[in-house]
Amino acid sequence: MLLLFITLCSAVSLTELGYWNGVKRVRREFPYLENNVYLDYTASGLHQVSQLKDFYYDVSKKLYGNAHSISPSSINTDTVVKQMRKRILKYFNANPKEYDVIFTSGATEALKIVGENFPFTPASVFLYLLQNHNSVLGIREYASNANATWGYFTEEDPEQQWRSVLDKLNKLQTTNVTHHLIAFPGEDNFNGAKFPLDWICKINSLSNNKHKFHVLLDAAALVPSAKLDLTKYHPDFVSISFYKMFGFPTGVGCLIVKKEVAKELKISYFGGGTVVMAAADRDWKVFPDYLPPKYEAGTLNFLGILGLKHAFNHFPNIDIIHKHTYALTRVLFTELNKLTYSNGTKAIEIYGNHNHSTYENQGPIVTFNILNSKYKYNGVFPKHVPLLTVNEFLAKKNIHVRVGCTCNPGSCLNSLNVTSLAAAAVTNPNTPVDTTLEGKQYGAIRVSIGYPTTIGDIRKFIRAIKEFIKMVE
Ligand SMILES: Cc1ncc(COP(=O)(O)O)c(C=O)c1O
Repeated sequence: MLLLFITLCSAVSLTELGYWNGVKRVRREFPYLENNVYLDYTASGLHQVSQLKDFYYDVSKKLYGNAHSISPSSINTDTVVKQMRKRILKYFNANPKEYDVIFTSGATEALKIVGENFPFTPASVFLYLLQNHNSVLGIREYASNANATWGYFTEEDPEQQWRSVLDKLNKLQTTNVTHHLIAFPGEDNFNGAKFPLDWICKINSLSNNKHKFHVLLDAAALVPSAKLDLTKYHPDFVSISFYKMFGFPTGVGCLIVKKEVAKELKISYFGGGTVVMAAADRDWKVFPDYLPPKYEAGTLNFLGILGLKHAFNHFPNIDIIHKHTYALTRVLFTELNKLTYSNGTKAIEIYGNHNHSTYENQGPIVTFNILNSKYKYNGVFPKHVPLLTVNEFLAKKNIHVRVGCTCNPGSCLNSLNVTSLAAAAVTNPNTPVDTTLEGKQYGAIRVSIGYPTTIGDIRKFIRAIKEFIKMVE
């Protein structure tokens, strides 16, 4: 049964490809998946029932209160929060002497904290890879407010692009040390392409006694299916959303930050929990000398953080997840890639690095558009079948995918080979999903695979797409 049902490589079985046979057993943990084909794991992971049972048992037996006091319920919470900071560092193999964990509501808040508090000056530069999530692009608002320079770099020879920025900076007359920020995602959340983590070391090594280059790694899309080893790579900031790994808890993420670099951050706000004491009648406040609380304003989502404990306990081994999701991605890509219309024309246009994919350069996402059978649709000549039509067809079959640009305009427009000027010409606050861009769809269909995905899910998805292609022909 597990023999690969495609001609990916005739002699290779799914198991040899990395498929995890244990998924069959684990799938019992997701009874709500019955009659559903969920393929939207980059949007959100899914929780196991036992994980919630353990959480329920925990909160039924033990009293957890607000951490800001010394009552037993408060101490229970404080203990769990401390344990979870350690556990997160341990999971990512981060040295607690080097890194700290700031709890946030998700990756976006983690990125916002970096932007809000980074010591941008008019001499600073904020550079980001073209293929970043909007939540990274938004940091340029903070850079602009500080009159810093911002811009993007591309995948082609990025070192040369960073060096040319450094050369220009070296020519400036500056007396103070200037801090610069370079951001990239571990995995592109639009098409699943992965970016080399050895960029981190290369960026750090640009630093000299006048210019310090800091790396912001947005790991939100990477860590649900791949290991991030912070002993091997040393980014200055890492953003994470835990629901993308575990499904539950939602509303908990973190910023993993280098302690040394945190000393350079500003404090642009104080509020509940971030100050030891403040005066109401004059500008006086005392901050704690312990890092995370300085940036954790308000009461933490402490039951959510407790939920993390049970989530980690149930999360399968990440190397198994990595291989399993990669194997299914290969199957899905290969099957979709060979679909044609009856006249022999290609039916699917796929984005990402699948044509030369490895574990290192492609995550478990297959993003594609369905090509118009005669490159002719509704009397005009758009290239793709409308996303809305595909989405509605799949939704009726309880197949869950994401369509659109998935909050990653750089990657989306780059994949579609459309300029942002063309996008700007058709975008308004209520742009519908079926808007076209030079005859192409404004986005694509993103299928993302998680550890609970089975070969059965992939088969059902491929069957549905075959049926759709027949229907539109
Ligand atoms: C790469 C990447 N960065 C950031 C985010 C934002 O995460 P959140 O909405 O959980 O804050 C996402 C969410 O899809 C993402 O995929």
